[in-house]
Amino acid sequence: MLQTVQKEIAHFIEELQDEHVRTLFAKLPSGKMLRSKLILQIAQNEQAPKLAAVVELIHAASLLHDDVIDDADLRRGQPSLNALFGNKTAIMLGDILYSKAFFELSSFGSAIARTISYAVALLSLGELKDVELSKSFNADEASYFDMIYKKTASLIEASAKSAAILAGLESDRYALYGKNLGLAFQIVDDILDITQDAAKLGKPAFADFKEGKTTLPYIYLYQRLNTTDRERLLGLFKKDLTDEEKAWLQEKFIATGALEAAKEKARALGHEALECLHKSDEKLRAIMHALIERTY
Ligand code: FPP
Ligand code: MG
Repeated sequence: MLQTVQKEIAHFIEELQDEHVRTLFAKLPSGKMLRSKLILQIAQNEQAPKLAAVVELIHAASLLHDDVIDDADLRRGQPSLNALFGNKTAIMLGDILYSKAFFELSSFGSAIARTISYAVALLSLGELKDVELSKSFNADEASYFDMIYKKTASLIEASAKSAAILAGLESDRYALYGKNLGLAFQIVDDILDITQDAAKLGKPAFADFKEGKTTLPYIYLYQRLNTTDRERLLGLFKKDLTDEEKAWLQEKFIATGALEAAKEKARALGHEALECLHKSDEKLRAIMHALIERTY
């Protein structure tokens, strides 16, 4: 089914009629296509692959910009486009994909166009907040949740909602499913940064804290540490960690129950997502379970 989306994306790129863009786009590794899976599952409709292609191009554009902002050399185990061709090229390819996606989005009804375009405003607000929060250690859970809602969950929520609009289903129900799934997805991502090695992640492990990102496991850890250990944790913020420091963190994450608490939060959000579904939405249930249990 996802091939129909790949075909739409290839067609969009062809329509740009630019050899350089064709070459650059071919360098982007394909992702899990979570947003497309949701859209195709919710809307079994001939317009669905095109809507999914629009969302995938927006997502790809946002990652191109994010890798410039994060100064990331790797994306999905391969050199990032900014690492290969520099920031200017990565930013412009992002702008091209984003503009083409908006051009195609305008052919959908206004309810869908407004849903997706509003989510992109939220994405950008979320990324800006992420940049701001990364300047110092953030112990505030509410700020973290607001940021991950905007940066990650908003486009997943908008994908599920738009697909429901396309299929004439209850859009609020599917929007809430998408939102909770998106929040759980980001928390799992933040956990994997701590628990998995670089080979599995396709990027360095423990990169979040080094980049200044105080993700949920770190917030929970901070809450559970005594004053001395808190000082040690704050001292590691944005540092290139030694093996001994990584081992100390791993040990504290387990001993304090901080990692387990973050996992529990992801599971709880996943469960809330399931409560939005009908009994017959079995594939959407499976998508949620696969996401919570994933290891990369
Ligand atoms: C990854 O976060 C980043 C996002 C999910 C959203 C980025 C959004 C923007 C740059 C603004 C939107 C811009 C356009 C052109 C649509 P991360 O750094 O936590 O995750 P990572 O480990 O995958 O890099
Ligand atoms: Mg990033």
